[in-house]
Amino acid sequence: MSKKCYRLAPDLIISRIINGMWQVAGGHGYIDHELAIADMMNYHDAGFTTWDLADIYGPAEDFIGQFRHMLSELKGKEEPGRIQALTKWVPQPERITRSIVKENIQRSLRRMGVSSLDLLQFHWWDYNNPYYMDALKYLSDLRDEGIIKQIGITNFDTERMQIMVDSDLQIVSNQVQYSIIDRRPEVKMIPFCMKHNISLLSYGSLCGGLMSERYLGRIQEPSTAELNTLSLRKYKQMVDAWGGWNLFQDLLSTLKEIAQRHNVSIANVATRYILAKSTVAGVIIGARLGISDHINSNAQIFSFSLDKSDCDAIDAVCTKSNNLYQIIGDCGDEYR
Ligand SMILES: NC(=O)c1ccc[n+]([C@@H]2O[C@H](COP(=O)([O-])OP(=O)(O)OC[C@H]3O[C@@H](n4cnc5c(N)ncnc54)[C@H](OP(=O)(O)O)[C@@H]3O)[C@@H](O)[C@H]2O)c1
Repeated sequence: MSKKCYRLAPDLIISRIINGMWQVAGGHGYIDHELAIADMMNYHDAGFTTWDLADIYGPAEDFIGQFRHMLSELKGKEEPGRIQALTKWVPQPERITRSIVKENIQRSLRRMGVSSLDLLQFHWWDYNNPYYMDALKYLSDLRDEGIIKQIGITNFDTERMQIMVDSDLQIVSNQVQYSIIDRRPEVKMIPFCMKHNISLLSYGSLCGGLMSERYLGRIQEPSTAELNTLSLRKYKQMVDAWGGWNLFQDLLSTLKEIAQRHNVSIANVATRYILAKSTVAGVIIGARLGISDHINSNAQIFSFSLDKSDCDAIDAVCTKSNNLYQIIGDCGDEYR
């Protein structure tokens, strides 16, 4: 298997760089639907065949359905089988019944034009509402029926994952925020996942684009107007909690020096750093389809690897930061 791919489960091989579709859900600039779907082909042709989406990401599931149709028309009926679409189900925290689960999964199947979901990642907003365990049980039944191939979760903490493991629920992945600045998964989540053979899918690894040459050498903090996507605003708050703009500039300078040594970009170094971490199956990189294009740049991620001195230099800057685990808590606690 190519080093660009990862076997998430016996029946599911994904691209280690996953195209993130939150960016089509609004708040990231105007998305022209036709342009966006045409752009999906550019990712596919570059070998980025795995998509991360959710029922709540605006038209994302419909885009997968339309893109599959386009692939079939243009490249033959086998081609849609070469993509992996990892969706999520994000219900309101209310009483969950078997029929609620089935209805929602069937809606995703219809929208995406598939007979089974590659990976269904389950999110739950409120741990005080225990119905998440019922939901996972009913999802497992659908997996046993073949309607879902694999079950993952997103933004769950280690304590809740222990409950799932103790209940014999088969979970292949947890999708969490993980970046050079947000190392909360390293405290409890990664040791737990290593022990139980569960993979992590990482997001926020580029801090919405803050981790790039665009912000290098910027003495003034970017204004709210300049932070013109929800993603940039979300991760600027993380930067502030982590240690602030000056320390972030130190980090960007360090990343730039490393990037120059390897003839790649800051974003490439930031991604590579997370990809090398234990249990990380893939890094999800947000794609503003039809608006911006980093395909060629992100293809460079596999052209190099970081050595110990690179990682030591990055870690040295991070020792000056605040501890986000102490400030926010375990993975996903920012949502609760
Ligand atoms: N489970 C959850 O709760 C959750 C939460 C957030 C995100 N996610 C998933 O993770 C995905 C990633 O989203 P994110 O918000 O975390 O954003 P991100 O991946 O940290 O940042 C994406 C942005 O980084 C910039 N970028 C990408 N490649 C680059 C490169 N090579 N060089 C320079 N800049 C580059 C682009 O900015 P420009 O477009 O401005 O150029 C892009 O829009 C989402 O789409 C979603 O699938 C999941």
